[in-house]
Amino acid sequence: MSFGAPHRHYRVADSTNARARELVEAGAPGGTVVTADEQTAGRGRQGRTWTAPPGKALLYSAVLRPLDERHLLLPLAVPLAVCEAAEELEPEIECQIKWPNDVWIDGRKLAGVLIEAKPQDGWAVIGVGLNLSIAPDEFPPDLRETAVSILSALPTPLAAASVLNRHLNRWVEADRTDVLAAWRSRDALRGREISWDGGNGVADGIEDSGDLVIVAAGGDRVVLGAGEIHLRL
Ligand code: BTN
Repeated sequence: MSFGAPHRHYRVADSTNARARELVEAGAPGGTVVTADEQTAGRGRQGRTWTAPPGKALLYSAVLRPLDERHLLLPLAVPLAVCEAAEELEPEIECQIKWPNDVWIDGRKLAGVLIEAKPQDGWAVIGVGLNLSIAPDEFPPDLRETAVSILSALPTPLAAASVLNRHLNRWVEADRTDVLAAWRSRDALRGREISWDGGNGVADGIEDSGDLVIVAAGGDRVVLGAGEIHLRL
């Protein structure tokens, strides 16, 4: 399986993840990629929406099929591919990952990942939104301080898609040990004060399962498998 063949590009789609899910449910092969210049109902994690001005972000969904036990660390592997793709497009930047799979430059979000999977049917849709040429004042006011784009290199979304295909090919099939080591080397939270809906503490890396380890304020070790955490500023 190799990401990018077939590739369907929409000028406008509701959500590339929704289009890719429809294709996979109709039998599309692993490797199928869907991109769009614009989304009218882009989906983010935790039920949020994802917006970007037309043509200024990579809006990308890829079908992973078959999905099996080799892909247990997929949520960690995908942001590694996104980091490497972004750094290839603009060698001046260095990306980090905010657990589990936001891609950051200097504490600002460059890209988000939304994986929608149906393991019993053996597939996953890997959704990536990567900001390419969105000027700071084009982000919604509430994101202006926290979002960032690759502004300098100005790759087109289609050029960015082909670079991402290549890095995803490698990372989706990579060994667990390589994924864990590379992810840990890009961990944006380790040693930083964070809060989650159960309390606050200091992030202490990830388990081999990909779960986040936190040393809570009282000294207890807490392990989070899912959910949202925030930096305490
Ligand atoms: C996040 O909340 O951080 C994840 C955002 C993922 C957005 C991308 S854009 C392309 C793909 N299609 C969607 O509807 N969502 C993902």
